[in-house]
Amino acid sequence: MNDYLFRYDWFTNNIPTWKEHLVCYAGAEGITFVEIGCWEGRSAVWLLENILLKPSCRLHCIDPWASPNGEVIEDRFNYNTRLVSNITSAQLIKHKDRSIDILPSFSGESVDVVYVDGSHIAKDVLSDILLSWRIIKQSGILICDDYELDQEIQFHDGYETYSVAPPLHRPRMAIDAFLQCLMDIIGFYTKVGRSCFASVIFLCPTAAMDSL
Ligand SMILES: C[S@@+](CC[C@H](N)C(=O)[O-])C[C@H]1O[C@@H](n2cnc3c(N)ncnc32)[C@H](O)[C@@H]1O
Repeated sequence: MNDYLFRYDWFTNNIPTWKEHLVCYAGAEGITFVEIGCWEGRSAVWLLENILLKPSCRLHCIDPWASPNGEVIEDRFNYNTRLVSNITSAQLIKHKDRSIDILPSFSGESVDVVYVDGSHIAKDVLSDILLSWRIIKQSGILICDDYELDQEIQFHDGYETYSVAPPLHRPRMAIDAFLQCLMDIIGFYTKVGRSCFASVIFLCPTAAMDSL
């Protein structure tokens, strides 16, 4: 067991459903995965240790690490991902920027899975989903986290407080809007998990963004 430094755990609850839905990618060659919102690297480490096992796989990690204390969080991300055994420098591609500035640089239908776990502001989530939809291959997977999340976190001088998030600061409104607008071309979706942190939606596109 590696000596990882994780202060927060927003991910462990996801593991059973991720194992179930990502089983076809585990150990496969040439998988491209994009993670939006990486924090200390907990989900990235899990992906590298359990799914993206081959040197031909790519994990793109997008995060501006701009929150208060962002440099410390980014250092932890660097430290944790370096501890993963047997990964090559090509396998993990870090994009220190906002998703809206990075996602358009991917070619259409070039990515197997996108995990949306960045900004929780509804308009940002909607933008992440739409930009991601364009780059996911047909029959790929889009994972949207925090569907039930109703709280937001504020960081002040090294400590954090939680408060009730107004609806526009929750992912749910964006995910529902997307589902309603694209119902006819979304192949399949499922809502899984019940707690605010565990809730995830998986959508498997069957038609490219161009067909909108
Ligand atoms: C909940 S944390 C991610 C947790 C991580 N996926 C895990 O499970 O360990 C949310 C992250 O989103 C990042 N973030 C916020 N706004 C973003 C944006 N516009 N683009 C990309 N990442 C963003 C934050 O810096 C933060 O690290």
